[in-house]
Amino acid sequence: MKKTSAASLLFVLLISAGAFSQNIATTRNAAIDIEPEVPKISRVDNSDIRRKRAYPMQPPTIPHKIDSYQVDLNANKCMSCHSRRQTPDSQAPMVSVTHYMDRDGNFLADISARRYFCNQCHVVQHDIKPKLENQFVDIDELLRAGSQR
Ligand code: HEC
Ligand code: HEC
Repeated sequence: MKKTSAASLLFVLLISAGAFSQNIATTRNAAIDIEPEVPKISRVDNSDIRRKRAYPMQPPTIPHKIDSYQVDLNANKCMSCHSRRQTPDSQAPMVSVTHYMDRDGNFLADISARRYFCNQCHVVQHDIKPKLENQFVDIDELLRAGSQR
């Protein structure tokens, strides 16, 4: 008996939650009982055009697709183009020298373990309209604005 009344209380709570949720701000853009059309998965920008960095130490974003580029214990597909050895064949920019340094600043013959998992720092960009406008101000613009004062 107790169990059923608890269950019906939960039911009432759920129903009223459903009623209230219509006023909650959401990016769902449809009532809770309507299944909106699923947006298409956006395409990865594969233009091969290297992008400007927001500041000198920024890991550059990836200007090509990375589908099925395996990076694990046994293989690092990225390094098959970006390593010092492979750049003459791939014409890819070599990973910078920091990628060959250990934490004490010694230079190694091969990629440092600290830089092995490329996607920790480098990401692709998607061909989409951003939900919010980017208000980032480049240091050059800041300096220019400052010198005009
Ligand atoms: C088949 C060769 C190849 C593979 C594999 C590859 N890349 Fe590249 N990558 C390139 C080339 C060539 C460029 C130069 C721009 C272009 O042509 O896309 C580039 C550009 C980049 C850049 C931009 C560098 C800059 O200065 O703007 C980054 C970052 C990058 N790749 C990261 C990666 C990562 C991370 C992976 C693995 C997930 C990877 N790449 C796998 C060939 C490759
Ligand atoms: C811990 C973060 C981190 C990881 C992991 C990492 N990178 Fe980078 N990468 C950076 C940063 C920061 C820069 C820019 C400053 C520099 O060169 O150190 C950079 C620069 C680059 C560049 C441009 C080099 C140049 O001289 O223009 C390429 C290409 C690149 N990384 C590829 C890779 C690839 C491929 C891997 C995986 C094998 C990788 N990175 C792993 C942080 C990282």
